[in-house]
Amino acid sequence: MSQLILGIESSCDETGVALVRLPDGAGVPVLEAHALHSQIEMHQAYGGVVPELASRDHIRRVLPLTQSVLDQAGRQLAEVDVVAYTRGPGLAGALLVGAGVACALGAALGKPVLGVHHLEGHLLSPFLSADPPEFPFVALLVSGGHTQLMRVDGVGRYELLGETIDDAAGEAFDKSAKLLGLGYPGGPALSRLAQQGDGEAFKLPRPLLHSGNLDFSFAGLKTAVLTQARKLGDDLDARRADLAASTEAAIVDVLVRKTLSALKGTGLRRVVVAGGVGANRLLREQLDAACARLKVRVHYPELHLCTDNGAMIAMAAAMRLQAGQQRPSRDYAFDVKPRWPLDSLQTDAPAVAA
Ligand code: KG4
Ligand code: ZN
Repeated sequence: MSQLILGIESSCDETGVALVRLPDGAGVPVLEAHALHSQIEMHQAYGGVVPELASRDHIRRVLPLTQSVLDQAGRQLAEVDVVAYTRGPGLAGALLVGAGVACALGAALGKPVLGVHHLEGHLLSPFLSADPPEFPFVALLVSGGHTQLMRVDGVGRYELLGETIDDAAGEAFDKSAKLLGLGYPGGPALSRLAQQGDGEAFKLPRPLLHSGNLDFSFAGLKTAVLTQARKLGDDLDARRADLAASTEAAIVDVLVRKTLSALKGTGLRRVVVAGGVGANRLLREQLDAACARLKVRVHYPELHLCTDNGAMIAMAAAMRLQAGQQRPSRDYAFDVKPRWPLDSLQTDAPAVAA
C-alpha cells in the first residue's frame, strides 16, 4: 500500500508544508501538493532573520499551510501515514515549532513521525524535478549556512569532500549585499544588480582556489568588498553594479572550479547542485558551460524548490523510508539538532558492503 507523507519545514525563515505519496515498491515518490510562507518581508526591516520573530511566525503559519496542502490534494488529515519534519540544522526555536507540531499531529492521529536533516532535504530536492539524477554524483550544497562538496552514493550515503572553513556562499552573498546597501536576502538582490555590471571591473580574491583541497573560504571576500567600497567613496553609487558583478563572479568562480576539481578527484560524471545559491543564474550558466565541455550532467532542483520548502523534507523522508534507511518513530518525545553535520546522519539500515 502506498504511504502518504506530510512534510514540515521550519528551520529558518520559511514555513513549508507538503504532501508526498510514496508508491509501493521502487516507484518514484510523487509530490501531491506543497505550500510555503516566506517571512522575508517581516525580517527585511531588520536586515536579517530575527530568530524569535521567526519562531512566532512559524506557529501562526504551520497549521493553515497544512490545511491548504490537504485541500489542494483533496486529502483528509487522517489519510496521512507519516509526519516528517526538519529536525536540524537550523534555528533552535524555529525547529522546535515544526518538530512540536509534527509530533503533536503524529500523536493525535496515532501515526509515526520522522525527523529529517535539512541539508539532506536540499540534497535530494533535484529528485522532485522532471529529470531526476541517478546515483552516484558529486553534490554542491550551497545555502545560507552551508557550503559543501559531497560524494553521494545513495540515500544516506554521503561522504564530505570539502566545505567552507568560515562563511557559507550564501552568507558571502548576503554580507556583501549588505555592504553594498542592498536588501535582505542579499543573494537575489546582488545577483539582480550584477546583471547591469561588469564582473571583471574589480579584481576580488578567490580564496583557497589553489589550496589543493576542496575546502572553501569566503570570509576574506566581504572584507575585500568593504575595502573596495570605501576606496570608491562617492563613486560607489556609479560603480555599485560593477562591484556587485565582480563579487558574484568571484563567488561563482570558486564554486565552479572546486566542483570541477571534485569531479576530477572522484571520477564521477554527474553533479547535483542544491540549496538557495543554486538559484543563482551565473552559477547555473558557468557550471552548465564547464560541464558541457566535460560531457558531465548537471542537475538542479526546480527554481522554486532551491530555497527552503516543505516538499524537499517530505521527499527526503519518502526516499529514506523507501531505501530502508530510517524507520518512522512513535516516540513523540522529540528533540531538535540546531547543529548537525550531514555526514554524521544516523541510519537504521544495515551497513552497506563496500
Ligand atoms: O537554502 P536556503 O533557502 O536556506 C538555508 O538553508 O540557508 O538558502 C538561502 C541562501 C541565502 O543566503 C540567499 O541569499 C541565497 O540562498 N540565495 C541566492 C539566490 N537565491 C537565494 N544567492 C545567490 N543568487 C540567488 N539567486
Ligand atoms: Zn536551506
